[in-house]
Amino acid sequence: MRVKTTTQTLRRLKGVRPIVAVTAYDTPTARLADAAGVDLILVGDSVGNVMLGFDSTVPVNLDMMVHHTSAVARANTRAMVAADVPFAEAHFDFERVLASCQRLIQVGGAAAVKVEATSAQAPMIARLVEAGIPVWGHVGLKPQQLHTLGKYRKFGRTADEAESVLADALALEAAGCFALLLELTDAAVAARITARVAVPTVGIGAGPDVDGQILVCADLLGLNTGYVPGFARAFAEVGDVMARGFAAYTEAVRQRTFPGSPPAAPPAEPTS
Ligand code: KIV
Repeated sequence: MRVKTTTQTLRRLKGVRPIVAVTAYDTPTARLADAAGVDLILVGDSVGNVMLGFDSTVPVNLDMMVHHTSAVARANTRAMVAADVPFAEAHFDFERVLASCQRLIQVGGAAAVKVEATSAQAPMIARLVEAGIPVWGHVGLKPQQLHTLGKYRKFGRTADEAESVLADALALEAAGCFALLLELTDAAVAARITARVAVPTVGIGAGPDVDGQILVCADLLGLNTGYVPGFARAFAEVGDVMARGFAAYTEAVRQRTFPGSPPAAPPAEPTS
């Protein structure tokens, strides 16, 4: 029987081994990531810039998140699936935020939600947790703040900002978040947070001293046709493989070699 990864599994991994997390937005990608053994799949609002042609996560709305979350949930992964609460949604009144989380979980099939938040939202998050919504708190760079920030940048480089990111992390842990995502957070600050909190931290551009890492699937697969952050690494060149596949198909149709039998493979070279 397949044992599902849960928030409790992730908590138990802290200090034992790094948590492996990736984003996915569709069924086949979620299946492939799961087969590789990842622990946690995030249906990120990065679907906006990675898959939907927007230039940020800001235009992504709840309907889009539910649509992509259900596609990932249908992969029926062993990995836990979490979904982002999209732009501004977590700032409505509690009933609306609860209803949005309920949709992501009941209709989308997510096991948890991720909320970009500061300590100011800790009371609201505590109420969500009380209602049975597992919340993954997201601190450091919060890409949904792009229009306020002007650009994406590292957080926690000044002493004041380091204290403020630490305070956010501690408040979200106290509110009951089962894990914290530290995005573009100064590595020393991420290490401090990781040492202070009992819940696992998952970093992206936050250095090595965190409890797990997450990357956007298109970045790690070499599939991103837009901006790729400097901290990301391509572990495969799927974009090149796809480009070659499309070119071979185009050529085969134009040359009328498709439909029909594929060209015979060249005879194998003698081995000795
Ligand atoms: O939406 C997203 O992809 C994220 C990343 C920080 C993992 O939140």
